[in-house]
Amino acid sequence: MNTRRQFLQSSAVIAAPMLVNAKAFSDDSPSNRINVAFIGTGNQGMGMLRRFLNAELGNVLAVCDVNEGSYGYKEPDHFYGATPAKQLVEANNAKRSKSGAAAQCHAYSDFREVLQRDDIDAVVIVVPDHWHRVITVMALEAGKDVYCEKPLTFSVADGRVMIDAVRKNDRILQTGSHERSNPISQFVCEAAKAGKIGKLTKIITKVGYNNKVGPGPGWMPMPVPKNLDYRTWLGPAPQQPYHEDRCLYRFRFNYDYSGGQITNFGAHCNDMAHWGMGLDTGGPTEVECLDAKFLPEGSLFNTATETRFRCKYANGVELLCESGEEQVQTRFEGTDGWLQTGYRGTTASDPNLLEGLPEKTKGVNDPHSSHLANFIDCVKSRSEPRAPVEVGHASAVLCHIANAMIRLFPQTGPGRVAKWDAASEQFVGDDLANRMLVREQRDPFA
Ligand SMILES: NC(=O)c1ccc[n+]([C@@H]2O[C@H](COP(=O)([O-])OP(=O)(O)OC[C@H]3O[C@@H](n4cnc5c(N)ncnc54)[C@H](O)[C@@H]3O)[C@@H](O)[C@H]2O)c1
Repeated sequence: MNTRRQFLQSSAVIAAPMLVNAKAFSDDSPSNRINVAFIGTGNQGMGMLRRFLNAELGNVLAVCDVNEGSYGYKEPDHFYGATPAKQLVEANNAKRSKSGAAAQCHAYSDFREVLQRDDIDAVVIVVPDHWHRVITVMALEAGKDVYCEKPLTFSVADGRVMIDAVRKNDRILQTGSHERSNPISQFVCEAAKAGKIGKLTKIITKVGYNNKVGPGPGWMPMPVPKNLDYRTWLGPAPQQPYHEDRCLYRFRFNYDYSGGQITNFGAHCNDMAHWGMGLDTGGPTEVECLDAKFLPEGSLFNTATETRFRCKYANGVELLCESGEEQVQTRFEGTDGWLQTGYRGTTASDPNLLEGLPEKTKGVNDPHSSHLANFIDCVKSRSEPRAPVEVGHASAVLCHIANAMIRLFPQTGPGRVAKWDAASEQFVGDDLANRMLVREQRDPFA
């Protein structure tokens, strides 16, 4: 542990405030500001970087991306990557500094060089899911605190390794489940947990349909663009020919890198399901896929396009997760009523249940910014963040075991119920389902 970190920790506040005000960290004294690096500056990484800078949460000393800079992200006019991220930070520094001179931010393509820097306290990891475990564990081993995007893991096994690395190295890890910092989600999940709708019986979650279209069978490889280090982008994933729909943003629709909308949006609504149930660790006892649709064999996008699955929990609650129009929605049903919240709003069986519902937070207090601020606050105070590693792991496990059953669905059809043992993190007596949990990764990152 370096001297800088020892200093920051010895001056840590003991009790972390529940709602972090960005002003608490706007003191420009260098010793009071956390030095961070952003690893992965694409669609979400650039958004998080902008929020971090706007809320003045610390110094961004470095950015890192295997893409130097390009279009081809979620929206056609988005130009992202290492160079635009560096420019964004330096323009922000110039605007804020009295002299107008740009304090330098280094741009890297190799995250290992970032992790070698002693002056960096924490890293914000916003890369595709197949890289989460590798970069997180290496960062923790290098003594960095970590904010890692959701879904925290690419596999069930990844999560166990990440928990061990956080606890062994005594580091802070915040999972990017920013709904945990959304006052509206806090209100609804805490109300369900507190029994405001009676005894919970059922939770229904919705995940959005695919929002991009990939090429069908017979697609042809494309030349790798000069700006992209494709070899490193693939990293631990299987060697595959390049196609633009494989990488930037669209990786989420391919099982080699992610898990489709079940792990993408499902990491939010199913995390909220666990939260409202009061289940921060552990998982269901049964999981069953009710329906799953896929694109024709040989399509580049091979994750399910439409799904429905059901889980049962030891407390008697049933969770039904299905594809729907709303990207993220969680509905709690209890013996005395229901409460529901999602990207399109919050409703309840009785208006009295919504008394005290907070307004939507915006700007430097929007849920993403507030979640980042909570991370920085915990880096300083050494207290647990709102979405610690165990919480991120548990909600990702739910998505991964659902995906195991979803992927088996074309072969097995409906009615196949698998028993899940949350303690051993294995399906019980079900070799076929357990084999679906194994995600092969290539050396040197396996
Ligand atoms: N919390 C949220 O609401 C939210 C929203 C969107 C995305 N996400 C998560 O953020 C992550 C990234 O998603 P995205 O939409 O930003 O994807 P993206 O493809 O737009 O961005 C990922 C970036 O990581 C870079 N990258 C890949 N491998 C790298 C490596 N080894 N080192 C450095 N850079 C590397 C890519 O070049 C790309 O620029 C995913 O895990 C996703 O689930 C979270």
